[in-house]
Amino acid sequence: MNKLLKLSNVSLNYTIDNNSINILKNISFEVDYKETISIVGESGSGKTSLIMLIGGLEKNSAGNIFFKDSEISNMTEDEISEIRRKNIGIVFQSFYLIPNYTALENVSLSLEINKLDNATKKAKEILDRFGLSNRFNNLPSQLSGGEQQRVAIARSVVMKPELILADEPTGNLDSENTENISSLLFNYIKDENASLIMVTHDNNLANLTKRKIIIKDGVISENQ
Ligand SMILES: Nc1ncnc2c1ncn2[C@@H]1O[C@H](COP(=O)(O)OP(=O)(O)OP(=O)(O)O)[C@@H](O)[C@H]1O
Ligand SMILES: [Mg+2]
Repeated sequence: MNKLLKLSNVSLNYTIDNNSINILKNISFEVDYKETISIVGESGSGKTSLIMLIGGLEKNSAGNIFFKDSEISNMTEDEISEIRRKNIGIVFQSFYLIPNYTALENVSLSLEINKLDNATKKAKEILDRFGLSNRFNNLPSQLSGGEQQRVAIARSVVMKPELILADEPTGNLDSENTENISSLLFNYIKDENASLIMVTHDNNLANLTKRKIIIKDGVISENQ
């Protein structure tokens, strides 16, 4: 059966002062369409680095990464960013909204970059779906943390990506907002048949995914 994502013996090294440090070692796993996976592990174990590789924001030093049968590890920067823009939504712990753009502009920008019609209408629809219809014209500084993360998620899914990568999406939120954001994210993924790879320190959140991958010192120690 076709897989959405396949990593085969992927490694990541960083060179600092002529010393090569091995951050990720021989990482292999596959992700099915519509599958949800959490990635857990201690601080510094390599979870964010893995998300960066899958999202094409870092280049792997060895091994192969296939997204829907295309080998992204062999592509040019332009080819990778094209795939990322259209197929992969990324959500970070810090929301990274553009500070001088309104909520609506932050979301519609992705559609405009991709030259899609009705960018404003589509951006309004997704913000409305995430309970932000009365916040279209607010700047990020005029939004609460939970609202900012809802805008950031709206931005990451407005292109209807098949894969959503989330790196501690609730890491900066209190428990009430954590619950809101997690139900919003999981409902969205179910309704839209998307796949999710989510890094989290929160066991309750990790338990909502179908599979769990545990990383220890840059290697997969468990793949449940
Ligand atoms: N650009 C970089 N150059 C050199 N080393 C790096 C770089 N980015 C990360 N590292 C190192 O790689 C290791 C893994 O970092 P990573 O951010 O992936 O960890 P993490 O599992 O996400 O941790 P946390 O739970 O704290 O977010 C760390 O030892 C870190 O210092
Ligand atoms: Mg991290």
